[in-house]
Amino acid sequence: MQIGPYSLPSPVVLAPMAGVTDRPFRVLCRRLGAGLAASEMLTSDTRLWTTSKSRQRMNHEGEPEPRVVQLAGADSEALAEAARLNVALGAQIIDLNMGCPAKKVCGKLCGSALLKDEPLVARILEAVVRAVDVPVTLKIRTGWDPSRVNGVEIAAIAERCGIAALAVHGRTRADFYAGAAEYATIRAIKARVRIPVFANGDIDGGKKAREVLDFTGADGVMIGRASHGAPWIFRAVNHELRAGIATPALQRSEARDIILAHLDAVYSFYGEDTGVRIARKHLGWYCGQLLGEPAPVRSQLMGAANTAAQFAQALKHFDEWVSGGRHGGLTNGFSLGGLT
Ligand SMILES: Cc1cc2nc3c(=O)[nH]c(=O)nc-3n(C[C@H](O)[C@H](O)[C@H](O)COP(=O)(O)O)c2cc1C
Repeated sequence: MQIGPYSLPSPVVLAPMAGVTDRPFRVLCRRLGAGLAASEMLTSDTRLWTTSKSRQRMNHEGEPEPRVVQLAGADSEALAEAARLNVALGAQIIDLNMGCPAKKVCGKLCGSALLKDEPLVARILEAVVRAVDVPVTLKIRTGWDPSRVNGVEIAAIAERCGIAALAVHGRTRADFYAGAAEYATIRAIKARVRIPVFANGDIDGGKKAREVLDFTGADGVMIGRASHGAPWIFRAVNHELRAGIATPALQRSEARDIILAHLDAVYSFYGEDTGVRIARKHLGWYCGQLLGEPAPVRSQLMGAANTAAQFAQALKHFDEWVSGGRHGGLTNGFSLGGLT
């Protein structure tokens, strides 16, 4: 898989997710086999870049290359300027968000709402591609609603405007996250354009990834929600795509070490107060994935008021899980989708 000058180590990439794909999570997923990991979306309105949220979203220190910054906005010149500034700050790929279902981001119509206006899409893509000398990629949904599935037309515009790769979530904006993703439109898009296409939506393991790749002919898959509390999914999907067989079980001790290192990275990135809050979200997911969410454990993990107490709780419960204690389990490994 090639995006501009970058040869990706894997065609299985992390989906951009606001509130999730911060630098610690991106670094973790890349280390565990994600071929690419875009930042959370950053508004093109540079006046908002002074907030700590935006500053954190622009922090890429120590992140493996290529560093991808996702921009959201509706004004072609503002997006072009935001792209230029981010490249000057070290972005190596600019990704444009036309997939987010929120009606307004920062008071402006953007994300998938733009798909309704094809001439505007073309103006934005042309302006951003012209503004920077790094690859520009695009993330879309299949269309606005089931009566306006214009993903193929948008993809053709993207290719004509010089977009280097396209990610397509197999739902319309009106679907939000309801129902199942459909892949027929992604297949039609792949048949129409020559640029690399990532299929996205409901991919939760190697088997599904293989099926979606075979059906759509896409060049890669993009995984979002299935990575919550399971960053090792990239290693598993890579293995299954390469070897054609399910991945060997991950050792429980290895999963525990990944979780503890993730907590550490979150604490040092956000500091004490925000750190404990952000880590709580990930711990909730890890707990749900691995410990089966026993109520007392969950409340102890969720209730910890500072990073030291939270880390100590995590260490205790995941240690017990490794030794097969309170959380049961006769084996010391687990596969995706449940304990072995
Ligand atoms: C919490 C959350 C935040 C998201 N934020 C973004 C975003 O900032 N930019 C974007 O393009 N898509 C965003 N998405 C959409 C995902 O990138 C992805 O397209 C969607 O979740 C479908 O993939 P999945 O079924 O693998 O989760 C977000 C999704 C979730 C669940």
